Amino acid sequence: MESLIFSFALSILLLTSFTLSFDSATDQNALLSFKNSIISHPYAFNWSENTPVCNWTGVSCGLKHHRVTALNLSGYGLAGTVAPHLGNLTFLRYLDISSNRFTGSLPVELSKLRRLKVMNVGMNSFTGEIPTWLGSLPQLEELYLYSNKLSGSVPHDIFNVSSIRKIRIGNNSLTGLLPSDMCNNMPNIQILSLALNQIGGRIPSSIWKCTHLEMLLLSDNNFSGNIPREIGRLSFLTRLSLGYNNGFGGGVPQEIGNLTRLEILTIEDASLNGDFPSSFFNISSLRVLSLSDNSLSGTYFPQHSIL
Ligand SMILES: *[C@@H]1O[C@H](CO)[C@@H](O)[C@H](O)[C@H]1NC(C)=O
Ligand SMILES: *[C@@H]1O[C@H](CO)[C@@H](O)[C@H](O)[C@H]1NC(C)=O
Ligand SMILES: *[C@@H]1O[C@H](CO)[C@@H](O)[C@H](O)[C@H]1NC(C)=O
Ligand SMILES: *[C@@H]1O[C@H](CO)[C@@H](O)[C@H](O)[C@H]1NC(C)=O
Ligand SMILES: *[C@@H]1O[C@H](CO)[C@@H](O)[C@H](O)[C@H]1NC(C)=O
Ligand SMILES: *[C@@H]1O[C@H](CO)[C@@H](O)[C@H](O)[C@H]1NC(C)=O
Ligand SMILES: *[C@@H]1O[C@H](CO)[C@@H](O)[C@H](O)[C@H]1NC(C)=O
Ligand SMILES: *[C@@H]1O[C@H](CO)[C@@H](O)[C@H](O)[C@H]1NC(C)=O
Ligand SMILES: *[C@@H]1O[C@H](CO)[C@@H](O)[C@H](O)[C@H]1NC(C)=O
Repeated sequence: MESLIFSFALSILLLTSFTLSFDSATDQNALLSFKNSIISHPYAFNWSENTPVCNWTGVSCGLKHHRVTALNLSGYGLAGTVAPHLGNLTFLRYLDISSNRFTGSLPVELSKLRRLKVMNVGMNSFTGEIPTWLGSLPQLEELYLYSNKLSGSVPHDIFNVSSIRKIRIGNNSLTGLLPSDMCNNMPNIQILSLALNQIGGRIPSSIWKCTHLEMLLLSDNNFSGNIPREIGRLSFLTRLSLGYNNGFGGGVPQEIGNLTRLEILTIEDASLNGDFPSSFFNISSLRVLSLSDNSLSGTYFPQHSIL
């Protein structure tokens, strides 16, 4: 009986260690395949099969299971495509390959990264449309796709991740309209940057449902219509940038004066006319106000923009 229990325990032990090493091997395979599709890397890459993956440059692992939880290769001068095998890093929580020279599209296999919280692929040369599968990453909090060559319209799906806090997709070639109900499923969004694209139509009046917005950056696009009064309900806004658009026929809505935490307001060259609301001068937090090239009078400050 005792020996039976012993051999049972042993087989569980063997099974566990087999599973663990199998999983680490999966991580290693995934990273080596990722490396193989990089065609140029100016700095030495110490990703050798003979050393544990957790010791490789840019790789971090969880303490318990030694599975890869973060991959940070920001600014390594890497060129190439992203191998679909990266999707096998199922414990990955942080992926940062920003500021490199990656091309091609983001492989659909990355949708297997169910634990991903941060995806930063900004400042590369990714092409194609924003993938809809991004909207199925259940724990995503920060999505950075800025400064690439992405085109097409912004899919509703990325506005459907209730955990999302930051979306920066500025400086691409995005077109189309924003979904009118884009803020229905993003109660935690703090930063939304779409600047430097060609997105048009109206700014959805339901924007107020993004109740925790702190930064709303829509400058250098093709927005038109009125600036929705409802923006005045975004009481956490510190930065609002709407300049260089097709034009907002009306004036600046009085409700903007309700934004008592506003620090930076820029609405340059946007065909504004009418009276600038006096409620506005009650905002004591304001540091930068730029309204140049409109039919309003005001104080002019240099342009500030981040993506
Ligand atoms: C890997 O890193 C650990 C902890 O930093 C260290 O103890 C170990 O010697 C390293 N192994 C190799 C092969 O570099
Ligand atoms: C790889 O390089 C990094 C940074 O230079 C270093 O911390 C790490 O120990 C190296 N790993 C191996 C396996 O040589
Ligand atoms: C990656 O490294 C850069 C530079 O060290 C750092 O600024 C960035 O926050 C890191 N990204 C993640 C997701 O930890
Ligand atoms: C990892 O991903 C690739 C491509 O997505 C696949 O072919 C491979 O079988 C996967 N599994 C393992 C264990 O490497
Ligand atoms: C826009 O992105 C390109 C690379 O795609 C970059 O060279 C350029 O500096 C970016 N512009 C801004 C204002 O960040
Ligand atoms: C967004 O989420 C809602 C509810 O969670 C769902 O009904 C809707 O189909 C989703 N839309 C998309 C485009 O995923
Ligand atoms: C900008 O929007 C106007 C309509 O408001 C449209 O006629 C024009 O084609 C759009 N321009 C671009 C570059 O999309
Ligand atoms: C917002 O501003 C309007 C007009 O300036 C005012 O009537 C209204 O009470 C304000 N709302 C809030 C919530 O402060
Ligand atoms: C500015 O604030 C003062 C004091 O809070 C208030 O009495 C006044 O009505 C406000 N002015 C405008 C134009 O909202």
